[in-house]
Order: sequence, then structure tokens, then C-alpha cells
Amino acid sequence: MSVITKNKRGEENLELVVNGKRRLNGEITVSSAKNAVLPILAAALLSSEQVIIHRLPQIDDVSVITELINNIGIQTRAQGDSLIINGDIKKYKPSYELVKRIRASFLIIGPVLAKNGLVRIALPGGCAIGSRPVDLHLKGFAALGADISFNKGDVVAKADKLIGSHIYLDYPSVGATENIIMAAALAEGTTYIENAALEPEIIDLSNFINSMGGKICGAGSNVIKITGVKELKKTEYAPIPDRIEAGTYMIAAAASKGEVTVKNVIPEHLKAVSAKLIESGAEVEEKNNEIYVCRHGDVRPVYIKTLPYPGFPTDMQAQITTYLSIAKGSSILSESVFENRFMHVQELTRMGADIRTEGRTVIIKGSAELTGTDVYATDLRAGAALLIAALMAKGKSVIHKSEHIDRGYENIVEKMNKLGAEIKER
Ligand code: UD1
Repeated sequence: MSVITKNKRGEENLELVVNGKRRLNGEITVSSAKNAVLPILAAALLSSEQVIIHRLPQIDDVSVITELINNIGIQTRAQGDSLIINGDIKKYKPSYELVKRIRASFLIIGPVLAKNGLVRIALPGGCAIGSRPVDLHLKGFAALGADISFNKGDVVAKADKLIGSHIYLDYPSVGATENIIMAAALAEGTTYIENAALEPEIIDLSNFINSMGGKICGAGSNVIKITGVKELKKTEYAPIPDRIEAGTYMIAAAASKGEVTVKNVIPEHLKAVSAKLIESGAEVEEKNNEIYVCRHGDVRPVYIKTLPYPGFPTDMQAQITTYLSIAKGSSILSESVFENRFMHVQELTRMGADIRTEGRTVIIKGSAELTGTDVYATDLRAGAALLIAALMAKGKSVIHKSEHIDRGYENIVEKMNKLGAEIKER
């Protein structure tokens, strides 16, 4: 099942027309984190009372997960950029049409299983960035006492009650850690997740559940303890800022030889990105909740390996590859999180970049002079990388299938144009 993308207006085959060689200058404000908001909206299903999420980003993935929770019977009402969530789960099998639109749909298994005792959902298949199995999620649910079976491409999880357990993750999967936390939040007894993911979004999800009366401690470390409670109550919550959106603008600033202050960030979450930008010759200054980035000299080549947090994020791989294509010398990037996340490479070479992949390694020869042309976005971050490439390139570029970018970047065209980019949507 590949991810079907439509933008929030329900359109496909959108394009961005970009005039290149524009320096980005000024201030830009980051929205709330997509990867925090998606599990938090799923976890809202755990509550028996009203939940209000503030500062929701207007991005397509958020619209899809909202439709998905509506589809199983939960009522939601938007009020400005807040979402008011109420009601009980009435349907254990969400519509396949919605589920197939985002992989994060799988995050509703944990909460629906915990609250409803039964859930049936289409298994995610391969998508543009690798096979992405869900075995660790399912092993976790089974360890909590759920009965897992497969029926016509769906996974069915059933449990009269979930019971706390010790769960060791073979890999610190972000989604599996989140799904298990959500299921264990209403289980009887205590669950320990060992080798848990450390991502800031896991801490945010835990803080959100704790704000409803949950008992989770250790989030952000590799052992998370979840003491199940009988019921979760009402809350109001605002998620953390998006470190990947922030990192994308930081790289765009350095790539365009611009000078940008990225506001509403937690600099601690961007240590790996800042370190690599500094190594490459950019200036990066952190203030309380801002990061200033500029570049005056040439880009220096760097070595990068993507890793789970606090390592360099795989979600920034495509963007930094683009930036390094103009470095004075060869850079090597090794992708350790997803086995096949290189769809942008082919498009970048069509713009003049000298890049090749060998297995999970990307060799970026550098010294490229990018030239604008027609390119295709294949996924969200590949799309963001092509936008950075188009900003750096000589002449006009057309980014086809730009609806992929709308999945995760709020008002990116407006935000970039305010910094001096020349981008038109059509
Ligand atoms: C989340 C993020 C995504 C990011 C990724 C890694 C959300 C909504 N998405 O995705 O943007 O790129 O973390 O930082 O938060 N794996 C298994 N078995 C499993 C689960 C995962 O083998 O049951 C493997 C995956 O195939 C992949 C690796 O673990 O190779 C990392 O995946 P995971 O951390 O689960 O990523 P997601 O939660 O899907």
C-alpha cells in the first residue's frame, strides 16, 4: 500500500514554480510538530472526557488523522487553530480509504485497543521510503496480552483487558514506542519499554497523556515505565515545535547564503543539525527559543550518518544532501534508519548535482552548479529537499506533485516568500 497524497483542498498533481538564486533573509516561525501532533491526536482517543489540542498546524497529515478519528465515531470541532475532541469510539474498523493515506494511521491501534478491546486496520505496506514493517508494534501489543491475527490484509487486535509487561524493542522504533505507551496507559499494572525511542515527540506524547492523569515516567530515556490507570480525564494541551520544519529552514538559509532567524524552536532538539551546519561552514547561533543561521563562505564537505535521536535525523537527510551538492569537496552520507530513502537523488542529479548511491550510502561529489528544471516530489522530505534545490538553482524550476510537501509543512510557500523566495503554487 503506497501512501496516496492529496493536499488539504483534496487536490493532487499540484506544482510549485520556483525562481532560483534568491537569498533568504529575515525571520520565520515554526509550527507545532507534525510527529508530535499525530500521536497526540491518536492518544486523545484514550480519554473519556473532552480534550482540546491547541496550536494545531494546518497540514494534510493532521486533516487525515482528524478525519480518521471522526470516522470511528469521535466528534471534533475546530476553534481557530485548536481542536476540541469528544465522544466514544463507535467503530473498530476505520475506513481503508483514510488509513491508506498516511502511515501514521497505524498509531490509532494502541488507543483503540486499550479503550475498545478490539481494533481492525489495514496493514501498512511498502511506501516511498522503504518497507517500514510494524512487527515491533504488534509484538508489544501481544506482550500486553492482546490476541493478534491477520484477515484479508488487515491486522485484528483483541483483548478483554491489557496487562502490564516488560517489552524489549529490538530497535528503538518511534511509532512502536508510541503505540505501546498508548496501549499500556490504560492497562492493568505496570509496563516497562526497554530500548525505547528517545525522540522529543515521545516525551511530548507522554506529557500529554500525563496531563490527562496518565502515569508515565522515563520518556526521553531508553526505559519508559507506564503504570496503567483506569481512566484518563479531560485536558488542554499545546504540542512542541517542529524540529524538522525548523531544520529545513535552517538548511534553506545556509543553502541560499542567506541570513535567517528561525523562531519558536527548542535548540536542544536541533543539536545534530546545528553541528553539521557549523562543520559545513555556516554560522549558527542559538538563543532561548530561536536559532540564527547564516553563511558567508563556501560550503565545506561533511560526513553524516542518520541515526535515531539524538543522532542526525533521517527526516533531514534529503535536505542536507541537497545542500552538500554545492560543497567544495565530497561528502558521504550514510542512511541507517530507512533502507531506501533516496528517491530525491535522481531528481537532484537532473538539476546538475553529482550524487550517487551505493547501498545505504550517498556519495555527494560537490561543487555542483544547480540548474532549474522540472522535478517530481516523491515524498514529504524529498519534496522539501527539491524546494531547497530550486531555491539554490539558476533559473526556473517546477516541482510536480508538490502536495507531498503540504503533508508536513504549514504555509511553506507563504513563509518562504516572506523570506525573499519567489515561489508560486499552481
Ligand atoms: C517516525 C516518524 C518519521 C521518521 C521516523 C524515524 C512519525 C509520524 N513519523 O516514523 O517521520 O522518519 O520516525 O525517525 O512520527 N521498524 C521495524 N519494525 C517496526 C517498526 C519500525 O522494523 O515495527 C523499522 C522501520 O522499518 C525503520 C526503523 O524501524 O527502518 C525506524 O522506524 P520508526 O522509528 O518506527 O519510524 P516511524 O514511527 O514509522
